[in-house]
Amino acid sequence: MTAELLHDAEAAMSPLRARLARRIGSPDESFRTRIQAIARTVDNVVSMGPGDPDLPTPQHIIDAAKRALDDGWTHYTPPPGDIRLRRAIATMVAATRGVAYDPEYEVIVTLGAEEGIYMSLLTLLDPGDEVLLPSHRFTTYDWSIEMSGGVLVPYPTIADGQFHLSVDAIRARITPRTKIIVVVSPDNPTGGVATREELAAIADLARERDLLVITDEIYSKFVFDGREHHSILSEPGMRERTLLIDGFSKCYAMTGWRVGFMTGPADYMRAIVEVKHTLSICTPAVSQAAALAALEGPQDCIAEMQAIYDARRQELLGALADMDLAFIYPAGGFYVYVDISSTGMTSEEFALRLLADTGIMMLPGTIFGGRDPDAHKFMRMSLLVPNERLTSALERMEPAIKRYRSEAAEARRTAP
Ligand SMILES: Cc1ncc(COP(=O)(O)O)c(C=O)c1O
Repeated sequence: MTAELLHDAEAAMSPLRARLARRIGSPDESFRTRIQAIARTVDNVVSMGPGDPDLPTPQHIIDAAKRALDDGWTHYTPPPGDIRLRRAIATMVAATRGVAYDPEYEVIVTLGAEEGIYMSLLTLLDPGDEVLLPSHRFTTYDWSIEMSGGVLVPYPTIADGQFHLSVDAIRARITPRTKIIVVVSPDNPTGGVATREELAAIADLARERDLLVITDEIYSKFVFDGREHHSILSEPGMRERTLLIDGFSKCYAMTGWRVGFMTGPADYMRAIVEVKHTLSICTPAVSQAAALAALEGPQDCIAEMQAIYDARRQELLGALADMDLAFIYPAGGFYVYVDISSTGMTSEEFALRLLADTGIMMLPGTIFGGRDPDAHKFMRMSLLVPNERLTSALERMEPAIKRYRSEAAEARRTAP
């Protein structure tokens, strides 16, 4: 049912709902909200759902934020952020992507990467403009496109059970209304990492068809197996057509501080600053002080976190292989996208059943790729649970999977 029809149907049932704006669509709670509410009622639940690191924010960042409060970082900052932080971001982006930005006009400190996504789309999309996005994705994009009047056009990123960023798949979906290609690497939820060649091919296409690119690199510090993170921004001629979305939530375990950043050409960023002023005036000053300390302080905390996540990833992949569950190989990021179709359940059924039977919470693929038929067979498991809880969760999961499979086999045997 379209959002409009749902709105009308609900309006017939509830006069209060009738006052909600039509673009809000169905206000019914999402599966994500529902399963998280159920999980809160389960004793000793192991949450492998949200992308929130279990590791603490490094102590030197917390200490710097405490000092900043005493030093008066308690007021508005300029909307694009404190200039010291913008300079530090520009320096880091130049070092990691090889692209120079003017901290005065081309860097904005955002309320998490999330706000950068929303502001970019709100600023760039006219009604009917199309945005190409991974078919399984972080769904803030869906909502932001919808609110901006744009049209989401998914391109497949899974082929033969593995992550595959295909320029041909993107090219085939370009129309005269296409305005933006969104690239997410390392990817959420698949854990795929784009190769330099794949990104170069997409950059060629963007230049050839005069398209903009939003590159979401929030997981850039978490790339495994000795691989490297590549940014499409580093490809020739991409600076003028690319917005970089990144932040502090994942690499410094700072999700609750709500601080991220974006960079882009001054002409776009000047417009985006106006949106930022309206949405939030500025990112909380104390969080900006913490972000500055993160960039200026020792960086070994990132390598330490990466080693912890990598060890968990290997344990998880080993356990999934023992359970004979297929998965998309996670070369980066925080998640493993697991194919549970052999249990005979859809991903939502599986999520509810596993939570009830074992106390393990994970999110179904329908949350990430609702329109994709494969969404019903994937679950996203995160690496963000303490080691001993991960081990015990996997021990509980194994017999449950066996049981589900034998129930499915029995159901098939007795089916008329
Ligand atoms: C791909 C992607 N982009 C952006 C974000 C938002 O991160 P932040 O906490 O910086 O808003 C997330 C969070 O999970 C994400 O997975």
